[in-house]
Amino acid sequence: MPAEFFSEISNHATPPTYRFFDGAGWKESTSAATSDVTSPIQGEILGRLQVVTHQEIDQALANAQKAQPQWESTPLHQRVKIMHLSADWIRHFRGYLASLLIKEIGKTDLEAQGEIDRTADLIDYFADEVQSIRGETLDSDNFPGFDKGRLAMIERVAYGVVVAIAPFNYPVNLAASKIVPALLMGNSVVFKPPTQGGISGVHLTRLFEKAGVPQGVLSCITGGGGDIGDYLVGHSGVDMLAFTGGSDTGVHIAKQAGMVPMLFECGGNNPAVVLPDADLALAAREIVRGAFSYSGQRCTAIKYVLTTESILNQLLPQVLNNIKEMVRMGDPRSPETKLVGPVISPSAAEKILQAISESVGLGAKIEIGGKRKDALVEPTVLTHVKSQMPVVAHEIFGPLVSFIQVASFDEASEIINSSNYGLQASIFTRDEGTGINFAKNLKVGSVQINGSPQRGPDHFPFLGVKHSGVGVQGVRYSLEAMSRLKPVVLNKPQ
Ligand code: G3H
Repeated sequence: MPAEFFSEISNHATPPTYRFFDGAGWKESTSAATSDVTSPIQGEILGRLQVVTHQEIDQALANAQKAQPQWESTPLHQRVKIMHLSADWIRHFRGYLASLLIKEIGKTDLEAQGEIDRTADLIDYFADEVQSIRGETLDSDNFPGFDKGRLAMIERVAYGVVVAIAPFNYPVNLAASKIVPALLMGNSVVFKPPTQGGISGVHLTRLFEKAGVPQGVLSCITGGGGDIGDYLVGHSGVDMLAFTGGSDTGVHIAKQAGMVPMLFECGGNNPAVVLPDADLALAAREIVRGAFSYSGQRCTAIKYVLTTESILNQLLPQVLNNIKEMVRMGDPRSPETKLVGPVISPSAAEKILQAISESVGLGAKIEIGGKRKDALVEPTVLTHVKSQMPVVAHEIFGPLVSFIQVASFDEASEIINSSNYGLQASIFTRDEGTGINFAKNLKVGSVQINGSPQRGPDHFPFLGVKHSGVGVQGVRYSLEAMSRLKPVVLNKPQ
C-alpha cells in the first residue's frame, strides 16, 4: 500500500529522487539540481530532493494565491473533515512514517512513533478547536465621547498565503503544527521542509493531498535554505511566515521578510535551577531526560543547571548515576538504545565537540563523555562552567549538559536573564509558592516547576522571548496567530 499511495512522489530509483509539489502536481525541477538526504546512522544516501528554481517558487506562490479565496470560502466543516482525514492517513501509515524518521533524522523507534502519534492527535485537536473560534461584536458607547452610533462586527479572517518552514528535529510534527492551523483558518500554504527531514516532509504533503486539500492550496517546495530561502521569504506573494529553526536563521529571515506577520520558534538554551529544598532524585531524573532526549536536539532541552556548591555535590552523583540507567548511546534502530542516537550529521557532531573543547580551554571540566565517533556524540556532563563559555552562550544542539555553580539564587536569575535566549526554564523546589515567585523574575517564555522544559501538551501556549521566538503557538494560539481580526463597522447615526 505505501508504494502505491506514494508512487507519484518519487522516480523510484535507488536511492529515489523525490519530486516537489507546486500545488498542482508532483514535478522534477528544471534546475536538474538535487540535494542529498544522508542518514546520520551510517552515512547512507536515502534519497535526493529537488532544488527548485525561482520560477518554480513563483509558480507555487501564484497557485497558492489563486486557490486561497475559494479555500477560505469553503465551509469550515469541510476543511475540518479534510484535516481529520489527514490525521487518519497519518495513523494508517504510522509504522512507515516512523521508519522514515528513524533513518532520516536518527530518532529512536519510540521517539519516531511518538512524533507520528502526537501529530495525528494534534491535527484532530486543531480541527476540533477551530470550531469554537468565533468573532464578536463591540458597541461604541463604552468609549467616552461615543454614543451607540457604531457597531463593530469583528471576524477572524485568513492572511492569504502562509509560508511554513519546518526544522529537521520534528519534520512531521513541526510541519503539521504550522500547515494545519494555517489551512483551517482559510490560508493557503507553501511548505518548505528541511533538507534533512525533507523526505518525511514530502510524504506528509502527499497525505494532505490525498485527504482532499484542493489543488493550489498546499505546495511543498524543496531546496537548501542557502539556495532558495532568501528568495522565498522575501517574496512579495507571502502574507505570513511561520518558522522553526535556529535563532540566527530566524533573525536573518525576519530581516529578509520585512513587514509580514511572523510566528517564529527559535533556539533555546534552557536552564534548570535546583533550589536547596528540591527533591533531588526528581531533579536528577528530569535533568537527564531533559538534557538527553533525542540526543539533546530539542529547542526545549535542558542545557545548563544552576545551583549552589552544597546542592551540586549531592546532585551531580545522582545525575551521573541516572545517565548510566536512563541513557544508552547507539544505533537508533536498536531496542537497546535509549535517548542518545547519532546527532543529525558528523559535521554537527564536530561543532558540538568544538564547543566542548573551547569551554574546557576556558576552565570547564568534563565529568563524563566529551568524545564522538562519526555522528555519535557521547552523553556529556561538564562542570566548572561559566555562562560566557560557548557551551552556554550558544545553543548546542547535542547531548550535553553543563553545571554552573552559583553563590546565590539571585545570581542564577541574573545569569538566566542576561542570556540572548529566553525559551523556557525549570525550577526544582518542594515549595510551589517559592517556585512561582522565582518564576516571576525570569525573562523566558514559560517556566516549568518540578519538570523539564517541553512544548507539550500541545494546547498549552508555547513561546520564546528575545532570540527564542516571536508570537505564541499552541492549538488555539496558533489558530489565532494564523488569522487576523477584520472589523466591519456599521455606522448608525442616532
Ligand atoms: O525543538 C523544538 C520543539 O518544539 C521541542 O518540542 O519539547 O516537544 O521536544 P518538545
